[in-house]
Amino acid sequence: MVSPIHETYLARTSKSAAAHAQAQQVMPGGTSRQAGYWAPYPLTIGRGEGVHLWDIDGHRYLDLINNYTSMVHGHAYPAIVEAAGQCIRRGTGWPAGNEAQCRLAAQLVDRVPAAEQIRFTNSGTEAGALALTIARVVTGRRKLLMARYGYHGSLPEFETGSSGHEGPVTRLARFDNLEDFEAVLDAHGDEIAAVFLEPVLGSGGVRPASKEFLLGVKKAAQKAGALFVLDEVLSFRFATGGCQADIGLAPDLTMFGKLIGGGFPVGAVGGSRELLKIFDPADMKIFHTGTFNANPVTMTAGEISVRELTGPRISAMTELCEILKNELTQAAAAHGLPLSINHYGSCLNLYFSESVPESSIVREDQQTIGLFHLAALNHGLFLAPRGMIAVSTVTTHEHIAQAVELAGLAMQDVAAEIG
Ligand SMILES: Cc1ncc(COP(=O)(O)O)c(C=O)c1O
Repeated sequence: MVSPIHETYLARTSKSAAAHAQAQQVMPGGTSRQAGYWAPYPLTIGRGEGVHLWDIDGHRYLDLINNYTSMVHGHAYPAIVEAAGQCIRRGTGWPAGNEAQCRLAAQLVDRVPAAEQIRFTNSGTEAGALALTIARVVTGRRKLLMARYGYHGSLPEFETGSSGHEGPVTRLARFDNLEDFEAVLDAHGDEIAAVFLEPVLGSGGVRPASKEFLLGVKKAAQKAGALFVLDEVLSFRFATGGCQADIGLAPDLTMFGKLIGGGFPVGAVGGSRELLKIFDPADMKIFHTGTFNANPVTMTAGEISVRELTGPRISAMTELCEILKNELTQAAAAHGLPLSINHYGSCLNLYFSESVPESSIVREDQQTIGLFHLAALNHGLFLAPRGMIAVSTVTTHEHIAQAVELAGLAMQDVAAEIG
């Protein structure tokens, strides 16, 4: 069956198609990043500035995903471009300390009291791996407990849980279900090194957990002698001190990433001096290093990114997402499409179904969301293929109005096609 939405996508993006064919010769499936792939082939991007991306065919897109939340100030944010540019001219990787790492660490320590000290890595995945290593060394145990469909990075130990399956060292319990977590910890607590949790399921579909759940799991983890790791890689955009500040929760370890690198690769683990002293060269228990850990460019960009993510800016993003949620709901109704939306702070997740699923992984609207994603691209609107949206501090009311208009055109195409 010919799909007009697919046909339009193919006709608009011939340079992206050619670039992807070339990429397939040298990279499996033409990509190094699953989230950056969608069928029939992903766009190839040439440029980003502010709220916009441009593909190599020359089309402009209003960007509603901001590199999966990490570009919290949009693309090529002038203050970051300026500071990182100056830094790059002085060299990008030095085999010793730099002053920017101290300033970024100081800001994180300031905002997140449970993180008395910081250890930097190059990605959220590495932060997860490091948190797991710390927990294993401290407890002498091997296993971890996480939420089914939680996401803590692209490590086999975590990936298995993200896809909903237990693994050799990975135990699962249902997100936001305290009894479930308590039951696993009661039965198997003595083999669990750490409990990992996102305060808001990100890739699982923008689902917040209750305060009682998070505080309860921390207590149960402590009782079992396991470390409690709060993954704020994504959720650090929701409050100046992360979700833990809002909740009054002090995790043993905090994972950071995404926005704290100002658009450059980054990750970090924060924790008490007592826990993190295992890295102290004076009394080292874990050998941890990395050629680009805390490199001056990432640290310089991250310092600005964190500093400029203020409370009023966070509230403004939340307000925009509330408007977007309401208007998209009305637009879908006007086109006769079922639409359910998860919303937390500056993020949304769309589902073309009567209710939201437990996770984006187990959705019934796979075909519709895929069509909507391509149709949105055809109209110049960029969101995640799974329907996730994350606005930035440079997104305005006008951009939201445009987004609603473009999404409405995409919904019209989808309604016509699935009729
Ligand atoms: C909650 C959470 N943890 C960890 C990660 C992994 O971070 P990275 O992609 O930088 O490895 C992500 C990335 O999406 C995330 O959302």
